[in-house]
Amino acid sequence: MAVGIFDSGLGGLTVLDAVAKRLPEIPFVYLGDNAHAPYGVRTPDDIFNLTVAATERLWDEGCDLVILACNTASAAALKRMQETWVPAHKRVLGVIVPMIEALTERQWGDNSPPREVDVKHVALFATPATVASRAFQRELAFRAIGVDVEAQPCGGVVDAIEQGDEMLAETLVRAHVEALKRRMPHPQAAVLACTHYPLMEHIFADALGSGVKVFSQGKLVAESLSDYLVRRPEMLGSGTKSRFLTTGDPTAVSNRATQFLRRKIVFEAA
Ligand code: DGL
Repeated sequence: MAVGIFDSGLGGLTVLDAVAKRLPEIPFVYLGDNAHAPYGVRTPDDIFNLTVAATERLWDEGCDLVILACNTASAAALKRMQETWVPAHKRVLGVIVPMIEALTERQWGDNSPPREVDVKHVALFATPATVASRAFQRELAFRAIGVDVEAQPCGGVVDAIEQGDEMLAETLVRAHVEALKRRMPHPQAAVLACTHYPLMEHIFADALGSGVKVFSQGKLVAESLSDYLVRRPEMLGSGTKSRFLTTGDPTAVSNRATQFLRRKIVFEAA
């Protein structure tokens, strides 16, 4: 009864940590496509092909339900996968909608017309591919009106994290926050729409200053998955064992994961 969690690299571990805490009885198989990270600078076709290959690998592990714990894959590939590729007995879910439901104060599956919400000025931090897709704005427009979104493509941050360079990641985060604040000086909320960014959440929060509510996905996705599994328990696949798989070098990826998560994580070759 395992569930698959996929990311281009280490970022999805922030989601895995939250879902494993929320659903301790469920085995999770994590797959990081570290050999091909970052996805955020790739074309939509490339992201689709890589995400399809990774999802198939997780199906081989007995995970009929796969969570794309990657905003870039959720933004650039998920819709196309669901419409053209996922067979009826499997499911692939993303991480963007749970965050937008939280931002717009909606319960899961509330499909009522868009309405005014409290938050009016939102700073969106994401990879260049996620920003270019406009998936966040599209999903937001289904649920809320009158929300001004200023998006900052945070080039380089995922690379720095994947290379284990925390100092460079911090410098880049501060520069991206400054760049956004020049265009939107007083955001009410900031959305970390890349699962790598919670690893730098304290730096985002510090650079944004007090009074800005920072939304990151771990807990939101965990709640949404827990709800989903109550409604669809049959989507728990046949897998029985938690594993960490990577397409990269398992030793190097294990060391970086242990550095960022501050607990020991051992990856195996995918
Ligand atoms: N964690 C991925 C995301 O949420 C990073 C994408 C990348 O590899 O650039 O978008």
